[in-house]
Amino acid sequence: MATPLFHDGLTVHTHSHDYPIVITEQSSTEQNSTEQSAMAQQIMPYITGRQVLIVTNETIAPLYLAALEAPLAKQFIVKVCILPDGEQYKNQTSINQIYDALMAEHFNRDVTLIALGGGVIGDMTGFAAASFMRGVNFIQIPTTLLSQVDSSVGGKTGINHAQGKNMIGAFWQPQMVLAEMSTLKTLPARELSAGLAEVIKYALIMDAEFLTWLEHNLPAMMALDLAVLGEAVKRCCQYKADVVAQDERESGVRALLNFGHTFGHVIETHEGYGNWLHGEAVAVGMVQAAELSQKIGWLTSEDVARIKRVLTLANLPITPPAIDVQTALDLMGHDKKVKHGQIRLILLKSLGDAVLTNDFDAELLTDVLSQHSSSERQI
Ligand code: NAD
Ligand code: GLY
Repeated sequence: MATPLFHDGLTVHTHSHDYPIVITEQSSTEQNSTEQSAMAQQIMPYITGRQVLIVTNETIAPLYLAALEAPLAKQFIVKVCILPDGEQYKNQTSINQIYDALMAEHFNRDVTLIALGGGVIGDMTGFAAASFMRGVNFIQIPTTLLSQVDSSVGGKTGINHAQGKNMIGAFWQPQMVLAEMSTLKTLPARELSAGLAEVIKYALIMDAEFLTWLEHNLPAMMALDLAVLGEAVKRCCQYKADVVAQDERESGVRALLNFGHTFGHVIETHEGYGNWLHGEAVAVGMVQAAELSQKIGWLTSEDVARIKRVLTLANLPITPPAIDVQTALDLMGHDKKVKHGQIRLILLKSLGDAVLTNDFDAELLTDVLSQHSSSERQI
């Protein structure tokens, strides 16, 4: 079995139950073997019943499904649901496909759903698990950097609505998270960069020292040094686990994890789901939030320049597409953080120190939203 990269294991403490995040790096023999699949062996102890539904997509299935499915099938009744690939399929139609697969097999409350994929598969599988028969177990096997550092941990599950990202969903915690670092070897470079946006996010909101660490280590991460990537995943998961333990349902500190997301969701929704990657939109959103923080007088111009440099080092965009200011404000009005009709944003008091606030001059926000790229698309 692949040895966990870290022996001081990570645990997420939540109201419903505690669960582990296991970070492993399996050998190439293990990767190609359907006999000794390390992934299957790691998750088996967390499957409580006899029924298993693996949910994945048509890109990931040819890469990792066989190595997971075959060893599990020796001990469990295993069925597979393969969804189309893409953010544009993060919708009710795909959720219905998962329900259909569960119903077709007469699966019941004993079933464990396994999300094998990135954040789209993880969010949808989790939502199907939260709602099927009022809630069944699920396990996250995140295969993108973004899902390893963020979406697989903390129990936010859901789908998009045509008018807003992640508008329909539930908090539903997995039984475990298995981040197998070698899956990143097949991840397209653009997707790796999108994941780096969420990694950089943790540094900007929580830990300026981690920002310095990233400035030194981003080149190794982009060259797929799995040990360095594993260290980053571990640090990010620890930040996230700490936040989730304090505020599982996002009534306070958890909102800070959405740094850059209100601006980013405007881009994703306006440009069409899937055209800008979530992490790319968040990268630009973090720049916009930093610019607003500077206009308020909290960040210096050098801080903002440093943020832009680190995002550029990770091959991420830093300039928004042209979106009419009123349209952007309307889209921001749908944000889940809006309270009493007021837009609330996560801004930076300093690098590593974020706040959720509505205490800013609306004109400063308008100024930030007015600045955009002159070309069609800057990604
Ligand atoms: P994704 O799930 O769309 O995956 C990106 C692409 O990479 C897809 O084409 C996928 O098929 C492919 N892929 C995945 N793993 C691969 C691998 N190992 N090798 C080759 N290709 C692979 O995107 P994502 O960036 O992982 O997740 C984005 C989603 O996560 C968004 O929907 C976002 O809203 C959500 N999200 C949720 C949370 C949360 O807390 N639940 C947090 C952040 C983001
Ligand atoms: N990705 C933000 C959160 O999980 O709260």
